Amino acid sequence: MSHSVISVRNLSTRFGVAWIHRQLNLEIAAGDMVALVGGSGSGKTTLLRQMIGLLTPTEGEIRLFDEPLFGGGVARERSLRQRFGVLFQNGALFSAFSVFDNIAFPLRELKCLDETTIRDLVMLKLDMVELLPRHAALMPAELSGGMVKRVALARALALEPELLLLDEPTAGLDPDRSDSFVRLTRMLGEELGLTVVLVTHDLDTLAALATRVAVLAEQHILAFGSVDEIMRIDHPFIRNFFHSERSQRALAHHH
Ligand SMILES: Nc1ncnc2c1ncn2[C@@H]1O[C@H](COP(=O)(O)OP(=O)(O)OP(=O)(O)O)[C@@H](O)[C@H]1O
Ligand SMILES: [Mg+2]
Repeated sequence: MSHSVISVRNLSTRFGVAWIHRQLNLEIAAGDMVALVGGSGSGKTTLLRQMIGLLTPTEGEIRLFDEPLFGGGVARERSLRQRFGVLFQNGALFSAFSVFDNIAFPLRELKCLDETTIRDLVMLKLDMVELLPRHAALMPAELSGGMVKRVALARALALEPELLLLDEPTAGLDPDRSDSFVRLTRMLGEELGLTVVLVTHDLDTLAALATRVAVLAEQHILAFGSVDEIMRIDHPFIRNFFHSERSQRALAHHH
Protein backbone atom coordinates (compact mmCIF):
# COMPACT_ATOMS: atom_id res chain seq x y z
CA MET A 1 0.00 0.00 0.00
CA SER A 2 1.33 3.46 -0.84
CA HIS A 3 1.90 5.70 2.13
CA SER A 4 0.31 9.06 2.79
CA VAL A 5 2.32 12.07 1.65
CA ILE A 6 -0.15 14.79 2.62
CA SER A 7 -2.92 14.33 5.11
CA VAL A 8 -5.29 17.21 5.82
CA ARG A 9 -7.79 16.59 8.57
CA ASN A 10 -10.74 18.76 9.52
CA LEU A 11 -9.01 21.91 8.39
CA SER A 12 -10.78 25.23 8.74
CA THR A 13 -9.45 28.65 7.74
CA ARG A 14 -10.83 32.01 8.72
CA PHE A 15 -9.61 35.40 7.49
CA GLY A 16 -11.35 38.11 9.50
CA VAL A 17 -14.98 37.14 9.47
CA ALA A 18 -14.81 34.99 6.34
CA TRP A 19 -14.42 31.22 6.56
CA ILE A 20 -12.44 30.11 3.52
CA HIS A 21 -12.27 26.40 4.41
CA ARG A 22 -14.53 24.48 6.75
CA GLN A 23 -13.84 20.91 7.84
CA LEU A 24 -11.73 20.20 4.80
CA ASN A 25 -10.21 16.72 4.44
CA LEU A 26 -7.74 15.44 1.87
CA GLU A 27 -5.38 12.45 1.70
CA ILE A 28 -2.71 12.38 -0.99
CA ALA A 29 -0.76 9.16 -1.47
CA ALA A 30 2.79 8.70 -2.72
CA GLY A 31 2.99 8.84 -6.50
CA ASP A 32 -0.32 10.65 -6.94
CA MET A 33 -0.43 13.59 -9.32
CA VAL A 34 -3.31 15.59 -7.94
CA ALA A 35 -4.88 18.54 -9.69
CA LEU A 36 -6.52 20.89 -7.20
CA VAL A 37 -9.26 22.85 -8.92
CA GLY A 38 -11.78 25.37 -7.66
CA GLY A 39 -13.13 28.82 -8.38
CA SER A 40 -10.99 31.92 -8.04
CA GLY A 41 -10.81 32.82 -4.36
CA SER A 42 -11.94 29.36 -3.22
CA GLY A 43 -8.74 28.97 -1.19
CA LYS A 44 -6.45 26.80 -3.33
CA THR A 45 -3.29 28.85 -2.84
CA THR A 46 -4.12 29.21 0.84
CA LEU A 47 -4.40 25.42 1.17
CA LEU A 48 -1.10 24.94 -0.63
CA ARG A 49 0.59 27.40 1.74
CA GLN A 50 -0.88 25.56 4.69
CA MET A 51 0.32 22.21 3.34
CA ILE A 52 3.92 23.40 3.53
CA GLY A 53 3.66 25.22 6.82
CA LEU A 54 3.76 28.81 5.53
CA LEU A 55 0.38 29.45 7.06
CA THR A 56 -1.23 27.88 10.11
CA PRO A 57 -4.83 26.75 9.69
CA THR A 58 -7.39 28.21 12.07
CA GLU A 59 -8.40 24.67 13.00
CA GLY A 60 -7.40 21.17 12.02
CA GLU A 61 -4.26 19.20 11.39
CA ILE A 62 -1.89 18.68 8.48
CA ARG A 63 0.67 15.91 8.28
CA LEU A 64 3.43 15.69 5.68
CA PHE A 65 5.04 12.28 5.12
CA ASP A 66 3.10 11.12 8.14
CA GLU A 67 4.75 13.69 10.41
CA PRO A 68 3.19 16.78 11.95
CA LEU A 69 4.23 19.98 10.12
CA PHE A 70 5.35 21.81 13.20
CA GLY A 71 7.27 20.91 16.30
CA GLY A 72 10.22 18.69 17.02
CA GLY A 73 12.69 21.53 16.68
CA VAL A 74 14.41 23.45 13.92
CA ALA A 75 16.44 20.51 12.62
CA ARG A 76 13.41 18.32 12.10
CA GLU A 77 11.43 21.10 10.44
CA ARG A 78 14.37 21.81 8.15
CA SER A 79 14.72 18.18 7.12
CA LEU A 80 10.99 18.10 6.40
CA ARG A 81 11.37 21.22 4.26
CA GLN A 82 13.98 19.51 2.12
CA ARG A 83 11.48 16.86 1.11
CA PHE A 84 9.26 19.19 -0.93
CA GLY A 85 9.72 21.80 -3.63
CA VAL A 86 7.31 24.58 -4.54
CA LEU A 87 6.58 26.64 -7.59
CA PHE A 88 4.53 29.62 -6.45
CA GLN A 89 1.65 31.16 -8.38
CA ASN A 90 3.62 34.18 -9.48
CA GLY A 91 6.78 32.41 -10.51
CA ALA A 92 8.85 34.43 -8.07
CA LEU A 93 12.48 34.13 -9.01
CA PHE A 94 14.78 36.45 -7.09
CA SER A 95 15.02 39.23 -9.65
CA ALA A 96 18.43 40.46 -8.47
CA PHE A 97 19.93 36.96 -8.79
CA SER A 98 21.09 35.26 -11.98
CA VAL A 99 19.57 31.96 -13.09
CA PHE A 100 22.58 30.22 -11.57
CA ASP A 101 22.20 31.92 -8.20
CA ASN A 102 18.45 31.31 -8.13
CA ILE A 103 18.93 27.57 -8.54
CA ALA A 104 21.92 27.57 -6.19
CA PHE A 105 19.97 29.38 -3.46
CA PRO A 106 18.41 26.36 -1.70
CA LEU A 107 21.68 24.44 -2.06
CA ARG A 108 23.69 27.25 -0.44
CA GLU A 109 21.16 27.49 2.36
CA LEU A 110 22.12 23.96 3.37
CA LYS A 111 25.54 25.39 4.30
CA CYS A 112 27.23 22.04 3.80
CA LEU A 113 28.10 21.99 0.09
CA ASP A 114 31.23 23.48 -1.45
CA GLU A 115 30.96 25.75 -4.50
CA THR A 116 32.23 23.06 -6.90
CA THR A 117 29.48 20.68 -5.82
CA ILE A 118 26.92 23.48 -6.00
CA ARG A 119 28.06 24.30 -9.52
CA ASP A 120 27.72 20.69 -10.64
CA LEU A 121 24.27 20.38 -9.10
CA VAL A 122 23.04 23.65 -10.62
CA MET A 123 24.23 22.61 -14.09
CA LEU A 124 22.57 19.21 -13.65
CA LYS A 125 19.24 20.82 -12.71
CA LEU A 126 19.51 23.27 -15.58
CA ASP A 127 19.96 20.37 -17.97
CA MET A 128 17.08 18.53 -16.32
CA VAL A 129 14.68 21.35 -17.21
CA GLU A 130 16.12 21.46 -20.74
CA LEU A 131 17.95 24.76 -20.46
CA LEU A 132 21.49 25.32 -21.68
CA PRO A 133 24.64 26.02 -19.64
CA ARG A 134 24.83 29.52 -21.11
CA HIS A 135 21.40 30.33 -19.65
CA ALA A 136 22.94 30.15 -16.17
CA ALA A 137 24.36 33.66 -16.51
CA LEU A 138 21.09 35.32 -17.50
CA MET A 139 19.04 37.50 -15.18
CA PRO A 140 15.30 36.79 -14.68
CA ALA A 141 14.34 39.91 -16.67
CA GLU A 142 16.13 38.45 -19.68
CA LEU A 143 14.08 35.23 -19.69
CA SER A 144 10.89 34.33 -21.55
CA GLY A 145 7.85 33.32 -19.50
CA GLY A 146 8.44 29.66 -20.25
CA MET A 147 12.08 29.91 -19.19
CA VAL A 148 11.12 31.56 -15.89
CA LYS A 149 8.88 28.57 -15.14
CA ARG A 150 11.68 26.15 -16.00
CA VAL A 151 14.19 27.94 -13.78
CA ALA A 152 11.63 28.02 -10.97
CA LEU A 153 11.11 24.28 -11.49
CA ALA A 154 14.86 23.67 -11.41
CA ARG A 155 15.05 25.60 -8.14
CA ALA A 156 12.10 23.65 -6.71
CA LEU A 157 13.90 20.40 -7.61
CA ALA A 158 17.31 21.51 -6.33
CA LEU A 159 17.10 19.58 -3.08
CA GLU A 160 15.72 16.46 -4.77
CA PRO A 161 12.31 16.57 -3.15
CA GLU A 162 9.78 13.74 -3.07
CA LEU A 163 6.88 16.14 -3.28
CA LEU A 164 6.39 18.96 -5.75
CA LEU A 165 3.70 21.63 -5.37
CA LEU A 166 2.84 23.77 -8.37
CA ASP A 167 0.45 26.73 -8.23
CA GLU A 168 -0.85 27.61 -11.71
CA PRO A 169 2.41 26.64 -13.42
CA THR A 170 1.10 27.23 -16.94
CA ALA A 171 -0.91 30.41 -16.35
CA GLY A 172 0.21 33.13 -18.73
CA LEU A 173 2.15 30.79 -21.01
CA ASP A 174 1.19 30.47 -24.65
CA PRO A 175 -0.15 27.03 -25.65
CA ASP A 176 3.19 25.75 -27.03
CA ARG A 177 5.18 26.78 -23.96
CA SER A 178 2.44 25.46 -21.75
CA ASP A 179 2.45 22.06 -23.50
CA SER A 180 6.19 21.83 -23.30
CA PHE A 181 6.21 22.72 -19.60
CA VAL A 182 3.55 20.07 -18.94
CA ARG A 183 5.50 17.45 -20.87
CA LEU A 184 8.64 18.29 -18.91
CA THR A 185 6.82 18.14 -15.58
CA ARG A 186 5.26 14.79 -16.42
CA MET A 187 8.57 13.33 -17.54
CA LEU A 188 10.41 14.53 -14.43
CA GLY A 189 7.55 13.45 -12.20
CA GLU A 190 7.71 9.92 -13.56
CA GLU A 191 11.50 9.77 -13.66
CA LEU A 192 11.96 11.09 -10.13
CA GLY A 193 8.94 9.29 -8.68
CA LEU A 194 7.46 12.57 -7.44
CA THR A 195 4.15 13.12 -5.75
CA VAL A 196 2.69 16.24 -7.35
CA VAL A 197 0.03 18.69 -6.22
CA LEU A 198 -0.92 21.04 -8.98
CA VAL A 199 -3.33 23.96 -8.84
CA THR A 200 -4.64 24.78 -12.27
CA HIS A 201 -7.46 26.49 -14.14
CA ASP A 202 -6.26 24.95 -17.35
CA LEU A 203 -7.94 21.79 -18.49
CA ASP A 204 -5.18 20.89 -20.94
CA THR A 205 -2.68 20.94 -18.08
CA LEU A 206 -5.01 18.94 -15.88
CA ALA A 207 -5.82 16.33 -18.54
CA ALA A 208 -2.15 15.82 -19.36
CA LEU A 209 -0.81 15.60 -15.81
CA ALA A 210 -3.37 14.65 -13.22
CA THR A 211 -3.96 11.09 -12.07
CA ARG A 212 -6.52 12.44 -9.61
CA VAL A 213 -8.57 15.59 -9.25
CA ALA A 214 -9.55 17.31 -6.01
CA VAL A 215 -12.39 19.80 -6.32
CA LEU A 216 -12.37 22.63 -3.78
CA ALA A 217 -15.86 24.11 -3.58
CA GLU A 218 -18.25 25.09 -0.83
CA GLN A 219 -15.24 25.47 1.49
CA HIS A 220 -14.16 21.84 1.39
CA ILE A 221 -12.96 19.08 -0.92
CA LEU A 222 -16.26 18.38 -2.58
CA ALA A 223 -14.93 15.50 -4.64
CA PHE A 224 -11.68 13.58 -5.08
CA GLY A 225 -11.19 11.00 -7.80
CA SER A 226 -10.07 10.25 -11.33
CA VAL A 227 -10.93 12.71 -14.10
CA ASP A 228 -13.65 10.35 -15.29
CA GLU A 229 -15.15 9.97 -11.82
CA ILE A 230 -15.16 13.72 -11.26
CA MET A 231 -16.75 14.43 -14.61
CA ARG A 232 -19.75 12.27 -13.72
CA ILE A 233 -20.59 14.45 -10.71
CA ASP A 234 -23.47 16.82 -11.17
CA HIS A 235 -22.39 20.08 -9.54
CA PRO A 236 -22.43 23.62 -10.98
CA PHE A 237 -18.69 24.21 -10.60
CA ILE A 238 -17.82 20.83 -12.09
CA ARG A 239 -20.27 21.30 -14.96
CA ASN A 240 -18.74 24.67 -15.77
CA PHE A 241 -15.20 23.47 -15.44
CA PHE A 242 -15.40 20.21 -17.38
CA HIS A 243 -18.35 20.50 -19.68
CA SER A 244 -17.88 23.76 -21.50
CA GLU A 245 -17.17 23.40 -25.21
CA ARG A 246 -13.55 24.40 -24.74
CA SER A 247 -13.13 21.85 -21.95
CA GLN A 248 -14.61 19.06 -24.03
CA ARG A 249 -12.07 19.80 -26.75
CA ALA A 250 -9.17 19.68 -24.28
CA LEU A 251 -10.33 16.37 -22.82
CA ALA A 252 -11.05 14.75 -26.19
CA HIS A 253 -7.55 15.72 -27.23
CA HIS A 254 -5.95 13.87 -24.31
CA HIS A 255 -8.18 10.77 -24.03
N1 LIG B 1 -3.39 36.46 4.12
C1 LIG B 1 -4.67 36.68 3.84
N2 LIG B 1 -5.42 37.54 4.59
C2 LIG B 1 -6.72 37.75 4.32
N3 LIG B 1 -7.40 37.16 3.34
C3 LIG B 1 -6.72 36.30 2.56
C4 LIG B 1 -5.33 36.02 2.76
N4 LIG B 1 -4.94 35.12 1.83
C5 LIG B 1 -6.02 34.86 1.09
N5 LIG B 1 -7.09 35.56 1.51
C6 LIG B 1 -8.44 35.47 0.96
O1 LIG B 1 -8.83 34.10 0.98
C7 LIG B 1 -9.54 33.76 -0.19
C8 LIG B 1 -8.83 32.61 -0.89
O2 LIG B 1 -7.62 33.07 -1.46
P1 LIG B 1 -6.67 32.13 -2.31
O3 LIG B 1 -5.55 32.96 -2.81
O4 LIG B 1 -6.32 30.93 -1.51
O5 LIG B 1 -7.65 31.69 -3.51
P2 LIG B 1 -7.34 30.85 -4.81
O6 LIG B 1 -8.30 29.71 -4.83
O7 LIG B 1 -5.90 30.51 -4.87
O8 LIG B 1 -7.72 31.87 -5.98
P3 LIG B 1 -7.07 32.06 -7.45
O9 LIG B 1 -7.63 30.93 -8.28
O10 LIG B 1 -7.60 33.37 -7.89
O11 LIG B 1 -5.59 32.02 -7.32
C9 LIG B 1 -9.62 35.02 -1.01
O12 LIG B 1 -10.87 35.60 -0.75
C10 LIG B 1 -8.50 35.89 -0.49
O13 LIG B 1 -8.81 37.24 -0.62
MG1 LIG C 1 -4.37 30.99 -6.13
